[in-house]
Amino acid sequence: MQIAIDGPAGSGKSTIAKLVATKLGFIYCDTGAMYRTATVMAKQKGIGYGDEAGIMAALRDLDITFKPSAEGQLVFMDGEDVTLAIRQEETTNNVSQVSALPKVRQEMVRRQREIAANNDIVMDGRDIGTTVLPGAEVKIFMVASVATRAQRRHKENVEKGIMTPVATLEEEIAERDRKDSTRAVSPLRKAADAVEIDSSNMTIDQEVQTIIELVNKKR
Ligand code: C5P
Repeated sequence: MQIAIDGPAGSGKSTIAKLVATKLGFIYCDTGAMYRTATVMAKQKGIGYGDEAGIMAALRDLDITFKPSAEGQLVFMDGEDVTLAIRQEETTNNVSQVSALPKVRQEMVRRQREIAANNDIVMDGRDIGTTVLPGAEVKIFMVASVATRAQRRHKENVEKGIMTPVATLEEEIAERDRKDSTRAVSPLRKAADAVEIDSSNMTIDQEVQTIIELVNKKR
């Protein structure tokens, strides 16, 4: 079974997706972390964020792996732990440029389908219901106000020691939404058969429960 959870930055997708996956015993795939890792790689290798050929040459052999741990999921790039690096401002503010490159998307979608192929899975991102797993049995489109999303990101950031003011986060989130929604290849869009959940005034438990009920209806 495939569960696709899409939505804009900070809509709470990954928190909910992880909990749903744990409850159901499914694997979880954070596709945003994959685009973030490609962005960290470009920075480390001195490749421009818009240099499609340069990024593709390095990405082809790049190993991106996820490992569960007590503190949450760890992300490795060719064996190097990049869990923190992929959440840094530099990465967050440039990932939309990298993720808009058509060949990068093609490669990531190929990898994501491979991960989904033989597993019950919860996958979150921007184009899972529309492009990566169009046949997913359950599709969710999560939304929340920019103010709510900036507050959440702020709280997460503070826990990681990143001290960006809320007003800056609001601007950054709005800008990333704009870029992700207007790019030419598979922009952020609600699939026609997705169920929209507005998490602004819901508790995490309520959101998880809503999705579990949708899953149970399909089983
Ligand atoms: O989900 P997260 O905020 O970590 O995603 C980081 C960025 O990766 C997004 O802003 C978007 O540019 C890109 N992304 C994407 N397609 C996905 C997942 C993420 O383009 N399926």
